[in-house]
Amino acid sequence: MVKAVVCGASGGIGQPLSLFLKASPYVTELALYDVVNAPGVAADLSHICTGAKVSGYSPKDDGLKLALTNAQLVVIPAGIPRKPGMTRDDLFKINAGIVYDLINGVAQFCPKAFVLVISNPVNSMVPIACEVLKRHKVFDPARVFGVTTLDTVRAQTFTASLLESTASNSKFDPSQIAVPVVGGHSGDTIVPLLSLAQPAQDLQLSSTISHQQRSDLIHRIQFGGDEVVQAKDGMGSATLSMAYAGYRFAEAVLRATVGGESSIVEASYVYLPGIPKGGVAVRDRVGLDYFAMPIRLGPHGVEEVVNLLDKIDEYEVGLINIAQKGLKTSIEKGVSFVTDHN
Ligand code: NAI
Repeated sequence: MVKAVVCGASGGIGQPLSLFLKASPYVTELALYDVVNAPGVAADLSHICTGAKVSGYSPKDDGLKLALTNAQLVVIPAGIPRKPGMTRDDLFKINAGIVYDLINGVAQFCPKAFVLVISNPVNSMVPIACEVLKRHKVFDPARVFGVTTLDTVRAQTFTASLLESTASNSKFDPSQIAVPVVGGHSGDTIVPLLSLAQPAQDLQLSSTISHQQRSDLIHRIQFGGDEVVQAKDGMGSATLSMAYAGYRFAEAVLRATVGGESSIVEASYVYLPGIPKGGVAVRDRVGLDYFAMPIRLGPHGVEEVVNLLDKIDEYEVGLINIAQKGLKTSIEKGVSFVTDHN
């Protein structure tokens, strides 16, 4: 019995993500919240013949409170997306206030929920979420996730496509390729660890692709979002691939927390000092409180941060050093936003 809430449910990501959740076997109640059109999206989804009961709420008449009360899973794709020429940081001013308000609601009405932050810049929005929950004295680091799954999804797709183009007559199923992606979720804070791609024996990445191809592939994974922003030409950023990725991560959390599965690992941007197993070691290594790493999920959320940083090659150490600088600024910006907020 899971009540899931989507905040920002009428948007480009929110609608298809809500559709996935409506079709999920784990979800029995689905509450949609948005400043526009949530009752309409809810009415539409409610005709689908799956078990979840759907309701839609707007800010009036205590809508946020009604949506969030008794929720176990809250997914947040609320806020404005990028237009061509914008970085994710350009969204900070508007989205910070939106995430701040929504997390205040979470703290009051469903403090034990698993919170999945999609709104950009994720690198700053997750620190905002955690700081707000700390203020309310309800922060559990195992329950707050920055959703970076789209970077992993892109890494799988782009790696398979490069390998196909270099190996004649070979087919590579992207879903069977695993590429850990760590760091953060914007530009050069995204660090794909191609040296640890699996299955290594089939990929033989270092011998199959040249150094130039490898750095082009890394760049494509880091800036893949720009391809979509440009192609949509002012009509927003990735929505359908993000809804797929967001549901993949939400389902991983549900399979571990409700389904009792113990071996689920997905990357996520989390608060490291609060995760004794692996998190503290990664924090000490990178000198940051927030970082994306593969995490092992369990009944209470994050069980372990899987520290891969001792296994990476020299080139990747250089990429991590670059990522650390960008992340430091974004994290400080998020934390100060809450400190300065009355
Ligand atoms: P969108 O503009 O299509 O949808 C956003 C929705 O949020 C709208 O329906 C809007 O009414 C709603 N909203 C605005 N203020 C709200 C509030 N205070 N409470 C509740 N809802 C509110 O944008 P889209 O394309 O769905 O993107 C949403 C966010 O996700 C953006 O910040 C975007 O940058 C981010 N994103 C994150 C990705 C990731 O990998 N984590 C990938 C792609 C986008």
